[in-house]
Amino acid sequence: MTKPFPNGFRWGVSTSSYQIEGGASDDGRGDSIWDTYCATPGRVANGDNGSVACDHYHRWAEDLDLIRGLGAKHYRFSVMWPRVIPNGTGKVNETGMAFYDRLIDGMCERGLDPWLCLYHWDLPQALQDRGGWTNRSIVDWFGDYTELLVTRFGDRVKSWVTFNEPNVVAWVGHEEGRHAPGITDPRAAMRVAHHLNMCHARATRVIKHHYPDAPVGFVLPMHKAYTLPHRREQDAHLVDLFEAKWNGIFLDPVYYGRYPELIIDRMEPHIQDGDLEAIETNVDFQGLNQYFPSYIEAAEGRAWPFKHAEPPKYFRRTEMGWAIDGDCFYRTMKILQENYGNPPIFVTENGGAFTDIPGHNGYIDDQDRIAYYSEYLSALLRAVDEGANVQGYMPWSLLDNFEWAYGYEKRFGLVHVDYDTLKRTPKASYDFMRRVIESNALP
Ligand code: NOJ
Repeated sequence: MTKPFPNGFRWGVSTSSYQIEGGASDDGRGDSIWDTYCATPGRVANGDNGSVACDHYHRWAEDLDLIRGLGAKHYRFSVMWPRVIPNGTGKVNETGMAFYDRLIDGMCERGLDPWLCLYHWDLPQALQDRGGWTNRSIVDWFGDYTELLVTRFGDRVKSWVTFNEPNVVAWVGHEEGRHAPGITDPRAAMRVAHHLNMCHARATRVIKHHYPDAPVGFVLPMHKAYTLPHRREQDAHLVDLFEAKWNGIFLDPVYYGRYPELIIDRMEPHIQDGDLEAIETNVDFQGLNQYFPSYIEAAEGRAWPFKHAEPPKYFRRTEMGWAIDGDCFYRTMKILQENYGNPPIFVTENGGAFTDIPGHNGYIDDQDRIAYYSEYLSALLRAVDEGANVQGYMPWSLLDNFEWAYGYEKRFGLVHVDYDTLKRTPKASYDFMRRVIESNALP
């Protein structure tokens, strides 16, 4: 028996600039914080970096054909800020702009709907040198960058994503230091979170000024917290705090013009008069990324009274070690339905890294990834059945790509990339997704 998705359900696919483009020294691109981070010994597995990545900068046409072959109509990609404004502010790099012009035209020619993400983590290094996200001036810098893109591409780009995973930018980049810029300062991270919210609101206004009807939203990987079975009672009080830190701090000010009660004391020093009024903005859709449940336990002597715990053994895991749990995905959609007014939800990322060993003919029969997608898509259908306003789905990712601090070791693609030859080979999961999209149903 097949399970149908709603009529008009929108299928897409996601990628990001630093993870696939390469072309690092081409055409006047400036450095990003990820170039610097990768060049710092010990930061990225095997010393990998995004200089070549999937060479999408040169092979974009082939990649757009792969999206079309999948039957996906919506493509979320991101613009690399230092490719278009090498110093982050000031002089525009026209050759970099021309690349995105070609790319967007290429989408339109193939009937693909561009979803342009303004920021997927590759901040110009020149702006980091001026304090990056901790400097309140970034609201203006980001506003000017948005203005450039919207005036140039807004005639063809129909949907806009301001930020990909602002919580990861703040916490993993500025508190844990496991991502660029590699800072470990909890107070600075709070400030960054506030500035990201301010930037989201500024960018939304810039886009709406030019295109009042263009849908604008931001993408959040919602983290649902769970206590360990044997610590259920002792740790129960940490669940709300953890979720306020990872989710509420970005959702509540935008939807309701306030920060969650549980974290307001930490945020207060960074808020100026009028900020909260400025941040509250209409959200046309909520981008939702989802990968794993967050198991937590109490911890002392840290910025927050909890730490990540190993999920129970009964979960199957991906190559990242992430527990596979469709039910957690279902719950995040329900939280948006119940606590945030049931906004239109677009799942902007979901997928898994698996071993992906090519068979003798080079074909990857990734049944584990297919099983993963089946479980998560079933969970999505369950949320839809119960009234969650889920309108579209974009797997992560089209291609194997640069998986940040894990370098090229972890593969998330529907399409295999041979990093020696850069040859693309669709995996079994690509055919699976193509059939799902074509039939608008889960087999
Ligand atoms: C979320 C990020 O947006 C993306 O860049 C990353 O590759 C995937 N998660 C998988 O970790």
